[in-house]
Amino acid sequence: MATEQERIIELRKELHQHNYNYYVLNAPQIDDFTFDALLHELQSLENAHPEMYDANSPTQRVGSDLQESFEQVAHVYPMLSLSNTYNKQEVADFYNTVSKLLNGEEFEICCELKYDGLSISLRYEDGKLVRAVTRGDGTRGDDVTANVKTIKTIPLVLQGNDYPVVFEMRGEVLMPWKVFDKLNEERRQQEEPLFANPRNAASGTLKSLNPALVAKRSLDAYLYYLLGEDINIDGHFERLEAAKRWGFKIGEGMRKVSSLEDIYAFIDYWDVERKNLPVATDGIVLKVNSLKQQQSMGFTAKNPRWAIAYKFKAERELTKLESVSYQVGRTGTVTPVANMEPVLLAGTVVKRATLNNEDFIKSFDLHIGDYVYVEKGGEIIPKIVGVELSKRTAGMQPIEFIKTCPECGTQLVRYEGQAAYYCPNDMGCPPQIKGKIEHFIARKAMNIDSLGPETIDSYYNKGLIKDVADLYCLTIDDINEGGAHQKSAKKVIDAIEKSKQVPFDRVLFALGIRFVGETSARLLARKFNDINSLRNATAAQLLEVEGVGDIIAASVVSFFADEKNIALIERLESYGLQMAMPVIEEGPKGNVLEGKTIVISGVFTHHSRDEYKAMIEQLGGKNTGSISAKTSFVLAGDNMGPSKLQKAESLGVKILSEDEFLEMIK
Ligand code: IVH
Repeated sequence: MATEQERIIELRKELHQHNYNYYVLNAPQIDDFTFDALLHELQSLENAHPEMYDANSPTQRVGSDLQESFEQVAHVYPMLSLSNTYNKQEVADFYNTVSKLLNGEEFEICCELKYDGLSISLRYEDGKLVRAVTRGDGTRGDDVTANVKTIKTIPLVLQGNDYPVVFEMRGEVLMPWKVFDKLNEERRQQEEPLFANPRNAASGTLKSLNPALVAKRSLDAYLYYLLGEDINIDGHFERLEAAKRWGFKIGEGMRKVSSLEDIYAFIDYWDVERKNLPVATDGIVLKVNSLKQQQSMGFTAKNPRWAIAYKFKAERELTKLESVSYQVGRTGTVTPVANMEPVLLAGTVVKRATLNNEDFIKSFDLHIGDYVYVEKGGEIIPKIVGVELSKRTAGMQPIEFIKTCPECGTQLVRYEGQAAYYCPNDMGCPPQIKGKIEHFIARKAMNIDSLGPETIDSYYNKGLIKDVADLYCLTIDDINEGGAHQKSAKKVIDAIEKSKQVPFDRVLFALGIRFVGETSARLLARKFNDINSLRNATAAQLLEVEGVGDIIAASVVSFFADEKNIALIERLESYGLQMAMPVIEEGPKGNVLEGKTIVISGVFTHHSRDEYKAMIEQLGGKNTGSISAKTSFVLAGDNMGPSKLQKAESLGVKILSEDEFLEMIK
């Protein structure tokens, strides 16, 4: 019978292998359910054996607590960039220069795809990932290890036994198109600013201070450069093949060639085929294969002389701008949209492109009737990138941004420092009213799933609802179409009734305060507990909440300054919606923790960190931030920080799991 400690080691090994099979090889050998069950078993055993902590355990991939900031670290080898070429002649020039620098010696070129993400440097020691650093300024970057550990294609522990003791692996962190599309769709629905392309989305994600959020975003990574002393393989291609055996995901299609023609063929092939890849690429990279030859060629101040990038041309077409329409969103933002003569671009017919805002229109001095260049580069939504002025004729009119709302006629406003115009008639402008109700009933908000946009539209048009509170006044008779739809009407009313139990944080999100997304709503609800405290909070108090910046704080303050919003909230409250976080069940009373000093660390399942803090105080204990000899015990959730763990162990401070703690206070 294996001991629990042995089982932990066995499970870690198995799970690393399954992870590799699934994410790197795309060839899972067990189903998701079994994987989750094994991971769960490991997590429970690790909770019971904090002494077996391993920073590289498969359980570390879920991401832990919020970090305060990233540590800046110096790169052991600077992270250089490549010089770019844009046509085959420049590629030929590179090829000839290489030949000259090598005095006519034979050489091979390794051709690779150029991945369009952000570069990362991974340091491995004794087969374990010890540090992941962003490029930064090339000399120093941010230590993003905790975030990188959540990327499933990056091995935490290597396979085989012939890897170097210490080395660095460099590559690109990417957000796959599918993840990017889904993320932007969610942001569009919440009227949060969209990411322009997967690179920005990956970068924003990797630099997030919340590793648990990074874990949810499913980033990917392709590795393309092995660096280190004492690696006895001369070919770059062969080094990457070795790295593949150690568990790294190496870019697709890597090829070794020895003629310019083969390089051109590689370029032509991938210029088309890259569109079928799951991630964005923006060119190809050519590297002299032999490291000995690379060394003899050396570097300029910024780039290696032995490699270049060839950038693909973004596909671009010229078409006529026929008119501009304006869309009004749920929060009143007015977005101008270009209607163009349909044109075929990168395989799809394009007839609309966003014009973003007034400044964008002015920057191109756009006129109706202009011929504009549209491009699909790293972006999925086509963009206007220029105007063909030679095609402009006399009498064409510059675009004047509308002054009044196209939907309700209200005078538009543009707030200082913001690019967008808004329609301020938030309670009377149809798309805003309907948009707000649609947002309110969404799954992540009030989850009234028997209603959808069409039903909202029809109720609104019939005058049954003018705001979200009206939903709670609907009766079966109002919506059963004279008795014809009794059953579905009852379902709707039941779902509305049930939504009264939705917790306060989601109600807050459902209210649709501009810029307050799901996460900030949760953080605000936890911090302020109820709607009145939140209403009375000053901007400075709001800014104390993690993840709340100036824009959100200002938006919350202005939302609560509006009497119409207060009246709406009061109505919702009177219908029985949750306007406060639940009080912890009568509060555990007594003084079981009298005189105890307790440190909280990690991520919890049953209650939030703030709730645990409140419990400790209610029971007479004291919660402190750092472990010392005076600490009575540490209340540890998942992924307790390694330095805290070490400190607790060295001082002999007891560690209690969440369950043990709850048992203790009953
Ligand atoms: S090699 C010293 N290979 O492109 C050479 N870079 O400006 C190190 N990139 O910063 C880079 N795909 O972020 C290399 N297959 C590839 C690449 C690649 C993407 C990125 C990398 C680098 C930039 C070049």
